[in-house]
Amino acid sequence: MTGSARLRAEKVPLHGPEAFAGLRAAGRLAAATLDMVTPYVLPGVTTADLDRLCEAFIRGHGALPAPLGYRGFPKATCISLNSVVCHGIPGDRRLEMGDTLNIDVTAILDGWYGDTSRMFVVGGCSGAAARLIDTTHAAMLAGIATVRPGATLGDVGWAIQSIAEARRYSVVREFCGHGIGRAFHQPPTVLHHGTPGRGLVLEPGMVFTVEPMINAGRREVTVLADGWTAVTRDGSLSAQFEHTVGVTDLGCEVFTLSPAGHAKPPYRTD
Ligand code: MF3
Ligand code: CO
Ligand code: CO
Repeated sequence: MTGSARLRAEKVPLHGPEAFAGLRAAGRLAAATLDMVTPYVLPGVTTADLDRLCEAFIRGHGALPAPLGYRGFPKATCISLNSVVCHGIPGDRRLEMGDTLNIDVTAILDGWYGDTSRMFVVGGCSGAAARLIDTTHAAMLAGIATVRPGATLGDVGWAIQSIAEARRYSVVREFCGHGIGRAFHQPPTVLHHGTPGRGLVLEPGMVFTVEPMINAGRREVTVLADGWTAVTRDGSLSAQFEHTVGVTDLGCEVFTLSPAGHAKPPYRTD
């Protein structure tokens, strides 16, 4: 586009019915993986144990765990405890009563990606932690509720930001939702803050994640020396939920709803 001063829009792929079917299956498997691991989130269990359970379940269903080897990431899932914002690396840390954690699963099934995460609590948590988790879940759902043709990504971001900030929490800026399809991360970039009416205008067939990270304290993050683990700079608690959604003619489809009906903790496991 020589001579054009106009900013070129991101090339956002549009997906048809066959793609939606593939994304539905991949999303459902990712969500079912979180359902499967739920009863194992107990004191004394290591995050590597949870990672192994998820990896075996994903592979057992003919899929692959997308994080493993992605830009050198060493494990099959991301598990982020307490003040870890995202991209925690599963390891030998044992869960303790009162821990809060996010487990983020991305499955590749028949080439299609399904990406979802939820918060878990180990044997119950403080009222302050429960309030942060509930608000983060409500913020994600409010963002998703705006998704329909003609709405904008600014609408999505504002819905999330306004709920978080009304509670005096902060929205992490360094990590965003993302387009997803036959690739893990592709356009568009989905900010979890924004201005109503601004940003990309949504069209049927667009597919992306909504995955707000909300901090109880300040929004700044630091990445640890392992190159992955992002923590709150002030040590405050952080929470995150993630769904993969597709824009439909009338609204949106959430591909990663829990088959077991688990939305936010506490989860019934019996
Ligand atoms: N699942 C994360 C997301 O929601 C990405 C993890 S990338 C990894 O986008 F390499 F850390 F696994
Ligand atoms: Co994601
Ligand atoms: Co994810």
